[in-house]
Amino acid sequence: MSTYAVTGASSGMGRAVAAKLASAGHTVIDVDIVDATVTADLSTPAGRDRAAAAVLELSGGRLDGAVMAAGLGPAPGRDRPRLIGEVNYFGVVDLLDAWRPALAEADRAKVVVFASNSSTTVPMVPGRAVRAFLDGDLDRVLGTLRIFGKQAPTFAYAASKIAISRWVRRTAVTPEWAGAGIRLNAIAPGAVLTPLLEKQLATPAEARQIKRFPVPIGGFGDAEQLADWVVFMLSDSADFLCGSVVFVDGGSDAWFRADDW
Ligand code: NAI
Repeated sequence: MSTYAVTGASSGMGRAVAAKLASAGHTVIDVDIVDATVTADLSTPAGRDRAAAAVLELSGGRLDGAVMAAGLGPAPGRDRPRLIGEVNYFGVVDLLDAWRPALAEADRAKVVVFASNSSTTVPMVPGRAVRAFLDGDLDRVLGTLRIFGKQAPTFAYAASKIAISRWVRRTAVTPEWAGAGIRLNAIAPGAVLTPLLEKQLATPAEARQIKRFPVPIGGFGDAEQLADWVVFMLSDSADFLCGSVVFVDGGSDAWFRADDW
């Protein structure tokens, strides 16, 4: 049986993944800001350090895999763009940097990062914001997004998900990751009915936008089904998957950019 770290394990898709792994007999080290074995606020560097260290201690320095599901959606609020950047980008990169040696200890470790189809379907996301994320400079990210005013959280969210997808693809193929036998991939869901989406649907203006958004297959994704995809991406059947961003989004990404890939 294997040992997995799962962030964002107290709600939504992270919770569904953690439950499936545990019921299959694996050891799950769950990380979240509330109700978790490792309780830590991933929006601060100190919280990330604490989470990284606690998981390394609980795992004995060997991890068969990790699922990075902690994330914040594009809700309104002045401080929201910063929180989105801290959790959605640095909450993945800082933890995985710290866990890489433990993942390399395992045989064919697998990591799944939650990206989003916002990475390809939100228009006009400034490239300079994405580059600033990849340079590790959140102040610069926020500076580039100020022009969007109240819409800044939407662009912070999309930029964080583009940046984390690029980080996954760049990092996955390096000697330190692929060369150490670690399979690093991302899943890019469309709108999935979880507490994150429910909060957005509770705001009439956002609900209108979400319902108008083109989803060729119709409806919303199901958290249990998305969790099944993640469990598959952690399995031996996914040994040849490396640096991929797997879109599971009812067809929205294909609708927007069928030929653009
Ligand atoms: P959710 O809101 O149900 O779960 C997210 C979890 O992250 C929660 O347990 C929350 O406590 C945790 N979290 C948030 N801030 C944190 C912090 N500062 N420190 C530690 N933990 C924190 O959300 P859901 O929908 O399950 O989302 C999972 C991932 O999937 C997120 O990265 C999200 O951006 C992504 N996603 C979600 C979509 C959706 O429609 N639900 C669509 C595309 C991507």
